[in-house]
Amino acid sequence: MALQEAVEKNTGLLIVLTLFVVSLGGIAQIVPLFFQHSTTTPVEGLKPYNALQLAGRDLYIREGCVGCHSQMIRPFRAETERYGHYSVAGEFVYDRPFLWGSKRTGPDLHRVGGRYTDDWHRAHLINPRDVVPESVMPSYPWFETNELYDPAIQEKMEALRGLGHPYTDDEIAKAPEMLKGKTEMDAMIAYLQSLGTSIKARR
Ligand code: HEC
Repeated sequence: MALQEAVEKNTGLLIVLTLFVVSLGGIAQIVPLFFQHSTTTPVEGLKPYNALQLAGRDLYIREGCVGCHSQMIRPFRAETERYGHYSVAGEFVYDRPFLWGSKRTGPDLHRVGGRYTDDWHRAHLINPRDVVPESVMPSYPWFETNELYDPAIQEKMEALRGLGHPYTDDEIAKAPEMLKGKTEMDAMIAYLQSLGTSIKARR
């Protein structure tokens, strides 16, 4: 057939057409997700991170916690028994970027909010071995002594609002006030305590 011969003799065209055919499978899986209600609508009670939690989230990224901790509970018995309700897509609508992670040197953190007291987290982050003797998690003593410094917090919230996070003008106006006098530890704990709380964990 002339068409087949033309494609087979033209390597560039062959590559383009091959890539097109191979990508169809991916497109068929990914594109419908953009339109699916359950993946684009926030679960009931989900709020965007407040200024302090958002600053804590940035510290989580800065310190690379995602390298050892996932935030994605899979719908298997072993996971839900240990961590609580499995994660659903609607819980991550206000997570930019996602911090699902793919490595579990430590436990999944998606439902850690409310599991421990603030004091437990403080002691644990300063030196994990004080509360979990066999822990291999690094110590983060500077959280306690570093003053929280996040001069771009309002710009960040405005950018997120542009992407659909429902911040009010008031929340953005009061953001610097919320961070004033706080340490990095305060922000990190506020973030951790917020994780996964929109769906009550089954424990
Ligand atoms: C080198 C890997 C590693 C890194 C990096 C790491 N962790 Fe951990 N984390 C662990 C391990 C292992 C445990 C389990 C032992 C323990 O509780 O200390 C743990 C436990 C925890 C727990 C308790 C979870 C639970 O359900 O008991 C929290 C909260 C936590 N980490 C937060 C953080 C935060 C926040 C950061 C970044 C500032 C971080 N971790 C960085 C390895 C790590």
